[in-house]
Amino acid sequence: MKSTTAISLLLFLSLLSPSLSDRCNPNDKKVLLRIKQALNNPYLLASWNPANDCCDWYNVDCDLTTNRIIALTIFSAGPIYLALSLHFFSQLKNLTFLDLSFNDLTGSIPSSLSKLTNLDAIHLDRNKLTGPIPNSFGEFTGQVPDLYLSHNQLTGSIPKTLGDLNFTVIDVSRNMLSGDISFMFGSNKTIQIVDFSRNKFQFDLSKVVFPQSLTSLDLNHNKIYGSLPVGLTTLDLQYLNVSYNRLCGHIPTGGKLQSFDQTSYFHNRCLCGAPLPDCK
Ligand SMILES: *[C@@H]1O[C@H](CO)[C@@H](O)[C@H](O)[C@H]1NC(C)=O
Ligand SMILES: *[C@@H]1O[C@H](CO)[C@@H](O)[C@H](O)[C@H]1NC(C)=O
Ligand SMILES: *[C@@H]1O[C@H](CO)[C@@H](O)[C@H](O)[C@H]1NC(C)=O
Ligand SMILES: *[C@@H]1O[C@H](CO)[C@@H](O)[C@H](O)[C@H]1NC(C)=O
Repeated sequence: MKSTTAISLLLFLSLLSPSLSDRCNPNDKKVLLRIKQALNNPYLLASWNPANDCCDWYNVDCDLTTNRIIALTIFSAGPIYLALSLHFFSQLKNLTFLDLSFNDLTGSIPSSLSKLTNLDAIHLDRNKLTGPIPNSFGEFTGQVPDLYLSHNQLTGSIPKTLGDLNFTVIDVSRNMLSGDISFMFGSNKTIQIVDFSRNKFQFDLSKVVFPQSLTSLDLNHNKIYGSLPVGLTTLDLQYLNVSYNRLCGHIPTGGKLQSFDQTSYFHNRCLCGAPLPDCK
C-alpha cells in the first residue's frame, strides 16, 4: 500500500512539472510525432503532446545519460500499414527495444529495420504481417536482436543469411513459412531458444547438428522427416517439442530426452521408444 502511494505521488509530481527541463532530443521528438501521425493519432498516444518532454511520454523510454529514445512499446494502436510507419522508426538509430506486438499491423516487414544496430529485441508478433522475412535480417551489424515474429501470415523460406548471425532467440511460430531451416543450427551457433512450430518447414532432421547452447526447441506441426539425431542427448534441454511431424525411428536414449512426456513426440509417422511405446 505504502509503495503504491509513493509511486502515485512520484507520478503525480512528474506530471505537475512536465516542462521544467526538456530532456528530450528535438530530432527524436520530431520523429515520434511523425510516427504518431502515421499511426493516425491513436488515443493510445495521447500523451505524445509536443508541449511536453518526450522522455515523459508513455510508451517511450529515454536513455538516462544521452536522453535519446531507446525503447518504444506500442500496443493496440489499430490497423497500421507497417512499412509506412517503420520508415520513421529506423531514424531512431539508438533504439534498443521495439515492441509492436498485438497490433493489426499489415503489409510486409520493412528491410530497413536492420539499420537499427542497437536493437536487443524486435517484437512484431501477433499482427497480420504478410510476405517474407527480409534478407536484411541476416545483416544486422553489432547487436543481433532477439526476433519475435510469431502469429503472423509470413510466407517464403527463412533467408540463408540469417544462418550467418549468432541469434539467441528466434520465434517465428504460427506463420506459413516453408523450406529447410537446418542451416539455422550447427555446432558453431549460439542460439538458445528456438520456436519454429506451426509452419510448413520440410527437411531431414537426421543430419542436423544442434549447438550446445540450445535450451528450448519447438518444431511441432511442420513437415519434418528423418529421425531424431543422437546429438540431442548431449544438450541441456529445458523444453523440446517435435510432435506433429513426419519423424521416424528410435527416440535416442539419454540426456534430457526421456524427461519429456509423450506429447513432446506424439503424432509422428513412426517415432518409437520411451516415452512413446516401444519400437516393434
Ligand atoms: C546515439 O547515441 C550516441 C551516444 O551513445 C549519440 O552520440 C548519438 O547522437 C545518438 N544518435 C541518435 C540518432 O540517437
Ligand atoms: C559457422 O561455420 C560456418 C562454416 O565453418 C560458417 O560459414 C558460418 O558463418 C559460421 N556461423 C556462425 C554463426 O559463426
Ligand atoms: C558466433 O559464435 C561463435 C561461437 O561463440 C563464434 O565462434 C563465431 O565467430 C560467431 N560468429 C559471428 C558471426 O559472430
Ligand atoms: C507439444 O505440441 C503439441 C501440439 O501443439 C501439444 O499438443 C503438446 O501438448 C506439446 N507438448 C508439450 C510438452 O508442450
